[in-house]
Amino acid sequence: MQQIHYSAVSDVLIGSNTSGQLGDMAAAMGIKRALIVTDPGILQFGLLNAARDNLKANQIELSIYSDVVADPPESVVIKAVTAAQAFGCDGVIGFGGGSSMDVAKLLAVLIKGEQPLADIYGVDQIRGGRLPLIQVPTTAGTGSEATMVSIITTGETTKAGVVSRTLLADKIILDATLTLGLPPAVTAATGIDAMVHAIEAYTSARLKNSLSDMLAREALRLMADNITTAVKQGDNLEARSAMLLGAMLAGQAFANAPVAAVHALAYPLGGNYHIPHGLSNALVLPHVLRFNAPAAAHLYAELAPLILPNHTLPADPVAVSDMLAAHFLDLAAELGLQTTLREMNIAETDLPMLAEEAMLQQRLLINNPREVSYDDALSIYQQAF
Ligand SMILES: NC(=O)c1ccc[n+]([C@@H]2O[C@H](COP(=O)([O-])OP(=O)(O)OC[C@H]3O[C@@H](n4cnc5c(N)ncnc54)[C@H](O)[C@@H]3O)[C@@H](O)[C@H]2O)c1
Ligand SMILES: [Fe+2]
Repeated sequence: MQQIHYSAVSDVLIGSNTSGQLGDMAAAMGIKRALIVTDPGILQFGLLNAARDNLKANQIELSIYSDVVADPPESVVIKAVTAAQAFGCDGVIGFGGGSSMDVAKLLAVLIKGEQPLADIYGVDQIRGGRLPLIQVPTTAGTGSEATMVSIITTGETTKAGVVSRTLLADKIILDATLTLGLPPAVTAATGIDAMVHAIEAYTSARLKNSLSDMLAREALRLMADNITTAVKQGDNLEARSAMLLGAMLAGQAFANAPVAAVHALAYPLGGNYHIPHGLSNALVLPHVLRFNAPAAAHLYAELAPLILPNHTLPADPVAVSDMLAAHFLDLAAELGLQTTLREMNIAETDLPMLAEEAMLQQRLLINNPREVSYDDALSIYQQAF
């Protein structure tokens, strides 16, 4: 049997209004001075109120670092560490989207002062431990609450990852009521991102395994059934709950069976044009599916009944892959997302530069079921144009 090293956050509290139990959870972990890492929007929408009240009720001293920005740069992490050291916290809570949770993960390690940020990029570079860490997602997308990855913007257009099992949180709270006000465009883009996590985990070339497969399948089933309702009826708690659970399951899947060419080709779009991560994925997804079909059609055919439950599917797996590609193009349009690079005001003359940058994402491309050359990447961008 294939050797599997599966890791996941072992303690997950799921339910409406459970963020109001954050203080009880922190107290049970022995936390007395908590630092919440979040962004200004989360504070402004009052999403922290119930959690804050419950921390107070448990006599936990609280400091809130709310200067996280989307696609956080290194300076945000460094400032958060300085603020945390000044406050002297003994526990860290990530509360927000992937950006806040990614900063919280690094902060919990860096506050110990044993290693600077520059030394921990890459795989398994963290020595020593971290402070107790709880993650509370407010978007149903990145799955960052369940992953061992933190993504930081390191230059004008570049991102780097810290990958270490040390970054897996101690506990997660999934409270879908926090996501009820997520705007339609953010719901759509982050939801497609999470679906891509599940699809790419299921076709991941090196580390796909029976556990990640099981998680990816259930994640896709939940999200395919609920993404349209979550986008069109934002206050539908059942759809929001399914999306939040699906995104976490997809996070657990790709934490153990990493993502591939969709993400490799999406990153240059985010880096160069500040296109949100999920939308970048949605723009290239249909074209990567078609490109991968010669190697992965049998796997796409296994996923198709979950994504298109009420459709009669052709017998030929390549035809099924084509159908899935067409479906994701239609779905993006239905959810109000742009579907071409042209609509994003990207110049056709930029495509070779994008293909060159995509080729730098070898960390991801090695997981793709079909080898991707520069010419292939360029051709995928041309189809997406
Ligand atoms: N660590 C991982 O495993 C992993 C995986 C994929 C992506 N990422 C990273 O995650 C980041 C993207 O995260 P994201 O897509 O969750 O978005 P985000 O955290 O950048 O937040 C985007 C915006 O949505 C707002 N928002 C969040 N929750 C809201 C809510 N409930 N209601 C209203 N507004 C809300 C925020 O205030 C913010 O303005 C990127 O930096 C990406 O690189 C990390
Ligand atoms: Fe992603």
